[in-house]
Amino acid sequence: MYKLTEEGLKYLKKGLPEINLVKKLKEKELKFTDAKKLENFNIALLWAKKNNWIKIEKGILKLTEKGERATKEKYKIEELLNKVEKNELSEEEVKILSKRNLIKKEKEIRMERKEILNLTPELLKTGLWREVKFKKYNVEVPGKKIYPGKKHPLNLIIEKIREIFVEMGFEELNGPLIETAFWDMDSMFIPQDHPAREIQDTFYLSGKGDLPDKELVNKIREVQEKGGKTGSIGWKIKWNPEIARQLLLRTHTTAVTYRKFAKGIKIPSKYFCIGRVFRNEEADSTHLPEFHQAEGFIAAEGLNLRSLMGFIKEFYSKIGIEKIKFKFAYNPYTEPSLEAFGYSEKMKRWIELINSGIFRPEALAPYNIKVPVIAWGLAVERLAMFVFEKKSIKEILGHTCDLKDLREYDILKVEKW
Ligand code: PHE
Repeated sequence: MYKLTEEGLKYLKKGLPEINLVKKLKEKELKFTDAKKLENFNIALLWAKKNNWIKIEKGILKLTEKGERATKEKYKIEELLNKVEKNELSEEEVKILSKRNLIKKEKEIRMERKEILNLTPELLKTGLWREVKFKKYNVEVPGKKIYPGKKHPLNLIIEKIREIFVEMGFEELNGPLIETAFWDMDSMFIPQDHPAREIQDTFYLSGKGDLPDKELVNKIREVQEKGGKTGSIGWKIKWNPEIARQLLLRTHTTAVTYRKFAKGIKIPSKYFCIGRVFRNEEADSTHLPEFHQAEGFIAAEGLNLRSLMGFIKEFYSKIGIEKIKFKFAYNPYTEPSLEAFGYSEKMKRWIELINSGIFRPEALAPYNIKVPVIAWGLAVERLAMFVFEKKSIKEILGHTCDLKDLREYDILKVEKW
């Protein structure tokens, strides 16, 4: 038994494309470009040409004499289509229709449609749905994984840190990546012979920058050389403005803090800054020559070491890090200085998280700041390593990040902070 294919059924209902074309051309000639828009035009063109019904003259589609007669005479294919249902086709006729894919053995049609998943309007209209076996849905099959757009984990952490600071009432500061040594070091009482200034620690650029106003420069010179009016004896070396003018890639965001000090701060106040910093260091699992710092300070009457430790604990508890250990450290501009470590239960180890301290009088006097200022700088990548349990910073920053990780990391870890 032969049955109409979907194409065959369609033509039976709507007419054969070549006949429809001829009918159209009888009404009026068509530009080839317009005719192209007709349904099934390619098929119509193929057969109308084969039948010698049409010609194309200067881009216009016209009927031939034979074409003019075509609709009056019986068209074989059309007749045959009508015979399919009655099962009256000869072998020859079966061949003709099969060639055009208008009929198939009933069995074949069923086979083809066995796997049908959806009930389409087409199936409904043609009534074919009665002959089709629908595939059963298996609702337990896992779906195809999709990877919607996701923030880079480092950006996510940066945004969350910003959110926490803002929530705690801090204002955000920003500053340039290219700095003078003045803002990166001299302004905060780092001596000009400090080892951190060496070329193996700092990326210097070839140019020199401008120093700020003379008044501030003189105050810095005085405090560096003799301690100014702070009671300190200073570093007791001659301060060289040329060294201070040297351009470099900022080594810490504390430069931004000091630009703000020079502009003036409200008392009491809280500020923060998040940005990229650069250090001429060998790369290893916890160091890269560039990374991000989140810096902050609070200036207010009555602040002390306890306030600093309290702030650090509070900050990290907002991130879900509860086990914090402090260790005394050294910075030329803070006294005392503290490092804090957080314990990762998952990785079973302490991870260095933050460097902090109370700014020394020599680092505040030039800016006329008379209240204690507690401050800190933390490496954002270290925090990201902690949160995402990564052993290497290279899995957090730069082109060495694993794409699979970026797609699949658990965004909710940070979202629930
Ligand atoms: N600048 C320090 C660093 O880069 C961080 C810090 C900032 C420490 C402010 C104390 C006070 O590690």
